[in-house]
Amino acid sequence: MAHLVPHQSRTRPPTSYEKALAAELEAVFGRGQHDLDGLVAGLNAGGVRPPGGADWTPAALTAELARLGAGEPPAALRLDPGPRGRAASLHTIADVLDHGLRDQWYALCPSAAVPAGELVRLHRAGEDLLLWRDAAGEVHVQRDRCPHRNAPLSKGVHLGDRVACNYHGVQVDGTGTVVSVPGSPGCALEGRRAVRTFPAQERAGAVFAWITETDAAPAPLELPEQLADPGWEHFLCYVEWDAPYRYSLDNLMDPMHGAFLHRDSHTMASGKREAVFQVRDTATGFVFEKTDQRAVNFDWSEWIDAGYQAVRLDIPYPPSAGPGGPFAIIAMVTPTGRDTHAGFFWRCRRVEGWQRDVWRFLYRTVLEERHWAVLEQDREMLDGMPSDAYDREGLYQHDIALVRVRRLLRTRAEKYLSERTSTAAPAAAPARPVPAAVAR
Ligand code: FES
Ligand SMILES: [Fe+2]
Repeated sequence: MAHLVPHQSRTRPPTSYEKALAAELEAVFGRGQHDLDGLVAGLNAGGVRPPGGADWTPAALTAELARLGAGEPPAALRLDPGPRGRAASLHTIADVLDHGLRDQWYALCPSAAVPAGELVRLHRAGEDLLLWRDAAGEVHVQRDRCPHRNAPLSKGVHLGDRVACNYHGVQVDGTGTVVSVPGSPGCALEGRRAVRTFPAQERAGAVFAWITETDAAPAPLELPEQLADPGWEHFLCYVEWDAPYRYSLDNLMDPMHGAFLHRDSHTMASGKREAVFQVRDTATGFVFEKTDQRAVNFDWSEWIDAGYQAVRLDIPYPPSAGPGGPFAIIAMVTPTGRDTHAGFFWRCRRVEGWQRDVWRFLYRTVLEERHWAVLEQDREMLDGMPSDAYDREGLYQHDIALVRVRRLLRTRAEKYLSERTSTAAPAAAPARPVPAAVAR
């Protein structure tokens, strides 16, 4: 499917003024000049001037950076909804691993992909899903099946606080309750909570849902501080790749590829090309890190399993990216089919005030494109790997973390299947009863 949009942080190309200013900012920063007065002096030695034409002053520069770095609506993305009508049957460990574990939060799509008044269909984590917003803007995530005869509700009509199936008009609200059966008013279907409705939340510019087959309450969705703390700034980059989601998890838990695959990039050209790694346990997972290099290249990854699964990592920025620390990535992946997935890469930096504004401006004008080039190197590798890659591997010490993650996923899949088997109905099920709605 490979739905790929390189520029997601802006809705128009940069102007020639913006490009020239970005180039001068990068040049001054690149000389190690990271304080405001030094930046003003450096810019005044160059050719770009603020809109009024006078020299830069700290006040003029911060005002201009605030204007250029201000938020704008995220670019509208047209998502690949994934296969239709192929809800996964999860009978084996391979099924569960291929389609995604149950009972955890998944990022489904960028928030902007669910416009008000629309019905959006997405195949995610083995489920055909309907996403829509009610009149208050709250997002609902439901199984895309009409409780009457399983027609796709996403082909229906948005009625503000309800969705009407197009086939025979059955209406369902945001809790999954049938509120009206126009063809047979008062029938037993009315009032029933008949559509699986997944707990949903919007955070950090994305829609999340707790994918489950039970009615148990979800774990609280407590995202890493990079996404939850207002002292951090972030941009979301969303991709759809033609590779199993587990290849992306492997890739994220493999810091060593930074010094090879990304050796010519703007961020990962430095550092050793040999390393010995160690594993360090954390409260929510573990860190996999080089023992003899830090903050030079892609030197560590953290596996987080906290009701959602994510990988956190840092990539050092060159001085030209301005003040602030490294940029941090919070990455999540969501299966969109057996061999495809969506990737969510939040690029984060702990910056505030004018430093935040200048990073936002540089990110939109020049950095996003360079980050994208790096991500494309990953995609080329993953998309090109065969579907039987796990059957013929020659792993070594650098692969300890991905082996550990695979084992964790497998253990969770085994547990899910054994719990489901122990609570399932006996194999010789009684004859299927006549549905109540028909019997009455
Ligand atoms: S299948 Fe939806 S109303 Fe009949
Ligand atoms: Fe990479």
